[in-house]
Amino acid sequence: MPEEQDTGDFMRLLDKLAGTHALELEEYELLLDCLSPESARALAQRAVAQRKQVYGNAVFTRGLIEVSSYCKNDCLYCGIRKSNSGARRYRLTAEEIVSCADAGYELGFRTFVLQGGEDPFFTDKVLSELVSRIREAHPDCAITLSFGERSRKSYELLYRAGAERYLLRHETASPDLYRRWHPESMSFDNRMRCLGDLREIGYAVGVGFIVGAPFQANADLARDLKFIERFGPDMCGIGPFVPHHATPFAGFAAGTVELTCYLLSAIRLIAPNVLLPATTALGTIAPDGREQGILAGANVVMPNLSPVVHRRDYDLYDGKICTGEEAAECRGCLGARMLSVGYELAIDRGDKAPLPADFKSV
Ligand code: 5AD
Ligand code: FES
Repeated sequence: MPEEQDTGDFMRLLDKLAGTHALELEEYELLLDCLSPESARALAQRAVAQRKQVYGNAVFTRGLIEVSSYCKNDCLYCGIRKSNSGARRYRLTAEEIVSCADAGYELGFRTFVLQGGEDPFFTDKVLSELVSRIREAHPDCAITLSFGERSRKSYELLYRAGAERYLLRHETASPDLYRRWHPESMSFDNRMRCLGDLREIGYAVGVGFIVGAPFQANADLARDLKFIERFGPDMCGIGPFVPHHATPFAGFAAGTVELTCYLLSAIRLIAPNVLLPATTALGTIAPDGREQGILAGANVVMPNLSPVVHRRDYDLYDGKICTGEEAAECRGCLGARMLSVGYELAIDRGDKAPLPADFKSV
């Protein structure tokens, strides 16, 4: 923020955002244009104050189980896209998945996120039986699914089987950009249809987007912020773009920690009680990326519970952390990392909290 004029603009935007939890689309873009070390510090300070009012010093954990690296889609950024013939594919059995959940339960997890590519093996029947099994084994846990785009009927069945939360990143709220990042067979409208269905059925819904991916400008990210303001998701997962060598986007630069953290702070101010993870991608582009995410306003971490033998093969982007033998115990590692910046891992389901009665905008 070298210019005084910019400082004035930024302070006005910051006050408006922190006070009203909303900006005009052009104002979001201007806010993003104002990114500097000083503005990032100021935004993060307000975001952390806001999070503290709702969640105190707790950071929630979700145990992530990556169940399948098969995918029928072909997103241009993603390493497990179907056109990547070099990808090693695996699919966990129901027994393996349940034993990951059992082991996670012993470690203190009360939320499991089952994530996979869009793998046709996971029909409604297979997936709902799996959800019912985990639900019976661990009735005190929340089950989150993340299996991409499905029919409304499918989402309804899975909800009835006991899944209460669903993560489906919108990836970008700009329809033009969505078209450049995906093959013709995928559509922005269907993505939005899915999110609307999930919300109407009663799921706690997680959206999210990629930061710093090819062709993305601040005007596009402004649309992501506007989308979050309007949709009011329960969760929002954002992470930097990280290139994967065997995709059409191999030659592009990765997103940055600075921009990702700035966006995390902005999202916290737009939605003070949103569940906001410091993601694996953020931890991949900087050794302390997830800690920086928490210090910018995030309040969730998602340690990997997948069997170590398969971890390398859920290969969304190059250099993904937590794939080696040393990462067998992500929970302990993350607990220590959070303590190092003054936060404690909470061991409960970590539902989205209502705004407290005495909530004040900061
Ligand atoms: N860089 C960053 N994030 C990626 N994802 C997929 N590929 C990449 C990549 N190259 C994210 C997408 C998807 C989630 C599971 O991983 O946002 O929704
Ligand atoms: Fe699998 Fe995009 S490559 S959903």
